[in-house]
Amino acid sequence: MQIIKVKDYDEMSSKACELVVDKVKKTEDPILGLATGSTPEGLYERIIKKYKQGKVSFKNVTTFNLDEYIGLDGDHPNSYRYFMNEKLFKHIDISIDNTFVPNGIASDLEAECKNYEKLIQEVGGIDLQILGLGTNGHIAFNEPGTAFDSRTSIVNLTKETLEANRRFFDSIDEVPTQAVSMGIGSIIEAKEIILLASGESKAAALSQVIAGNVTEDLPGSILQQHDHVTVIADEAALSQVK
Ligand code: F6R
Repeated sequence: MQIIKVKDYDEMSSKACELVVDKVKKTEDPILGLATGSTPEGLYERIIKKYKQGKVSFKNVTTFNLDEYIGLDGDHPNSYRYFMNEKLFKHIDISIDNTFVPNGIASDLEAECKNYEKLIQEVGGIDLQILGLGTNGHIAFNEPGTAFDSRTSIVNLTKETLEANRRFFDSIDEVPTQAVSMGIGSIIEAKEIILLASGESKAAALSQVIAGNVTEDLPGSILQQHDHVTVIADEAALSQVK
């Protein structure tokens, strides 16, 4: 695990942008795994800037997002499909047909999960996966206790995650309690992973990810066993790593 310590959120976002752009330029038909939430927003802003400066093209890029709330369609402002369209896809030259986010309103959600896995396999797997980290150590929506070999599935969100995500909704009752999430087993098949973390709220979980026991109680700890992980984290997020 390579750890890049940066000063703050801005520096984290710039460093991540540098690595993503480099990967896109060097890979033929790159497959990116993407995350939503507050953490990668700065990264996406910088990617858009690079694209507008003519420094990178996403014409040959395919993306797979980690997760989607169950019950929200892609036009819902709190859906992750909407987030990705607004924060990234509509501002760059990626073909929208090459952007995949699980369908949270699929009539057969089990089939949706299986099909999502199949699509990832069909393109040869993910070259570079971007991850954020939950305050409880979750990656994607794989909450503590999720099996390390889990595949894309329907997951229940913990109270802590609902609380953490309520800031995007009018009230906690509106936060969906379930999601479709790529599994931990699916995520760690990515050839390369970048984990982003910023702020003190992530410090306890991040110290476990980096130096704690590898345990299903702390999903992100599995990253210790992947041979190509880069953690880009700021001083506050790294404040509990000895
Ligand atoms: C989002 C995702 C989640 C977030 C995590 C951190 O697609 O899979 O695991 O990365 O909850 O969220 P933020 O970045 O909002 O702190």
